[in-house]
Amino acid sequence: FSCGVVIVAAGRGERAGQSAEGPKQYRTIGGRPVIAHTLDIFATWAALGPVVIVIHQDDEELLVAARKQMLHQIDATVVHGGATRQLSVLAGLEAIAATGTKYVMIHDAVRPFVDHSLLDRCGAALEGGAQAVLPAVAVADTLKRAKADGLVQETVSRNDLYAAQTPQCFRLEAVLSAHRAAATSGRADFTDDASIAEWAGIPVVVVEGLADNLKLTLQRDISMADERLSRQTM
Ligand code: C5P
Repeated sequence: FSCGVVIVAAGRGERAGQSAEGPKQYRTIGGRPVIAHTLDIFATWAALGPVVIVIHQDDEELLVAARKQMLHQIDATVVHGGATRQLSVLAGLEAIAATGTKYVMIHDAVRPFVDHSLLDRCGAALEGGAQAVLPAVAVADTLKRAKADGLVQETVSRNDLYAAQTPQCFRLEAVLSAHRAAATSGRADFTDDASIAEWAGIPVVVVEGLADNLKLTLQRDISMADERLSRQTM
């Protein structure tokens, strides 16, 4: 079994605020850029197939610098992304299709705490015949729906609710045709790839995600990730 990997890193990271280091995937945590941590996990994975990294056209130099700070080497094709995450993924999928890989994992560069056990769980589900695999964790908090004025309207049952993570994993032909169809139909706003599979009628299987597999979205998340890695190396 081997699996291609698309790492999406073309976002501007606006919710994390401005930084001289560039978008959040290039910010330093534990002494190295976020994306260097993420890529190192894949670089050392036994089932790693071809890799495509999707970046913003302005970030070529940032990526080169970040790759120099990896602990391991990784061969990768670099392509430019689009205006939304969905369009960036599509660019990555078109590039990885040229390698002939049968399976693909799509992962956010800003989730540097993914681990090999999760990659193996996802890989096993693909090998077992799943067309689309979603790592997710059951929602722990009590959920409320509230209006913009802050007034709670209702409590939403958390039974059967999951928080979606990446890497989301697919048979390449299935996810590529779903993505192409979504783009052709004018949609560009899907926030993850499982939802495109759902939209296309492809069954999506949930596997147990990883509580630690945080997505770094806000400045606060980057600070927490940095503290966590600094503690580990003390
Ligand atoms: O913005 P958000 O946090 O949802 O981004 C998730 C991932 O998608 C990030 O790794 C980001 O770099 C990537 N992305 C992208 N192209 C975009 C927007 C986001 O590759 N246009």
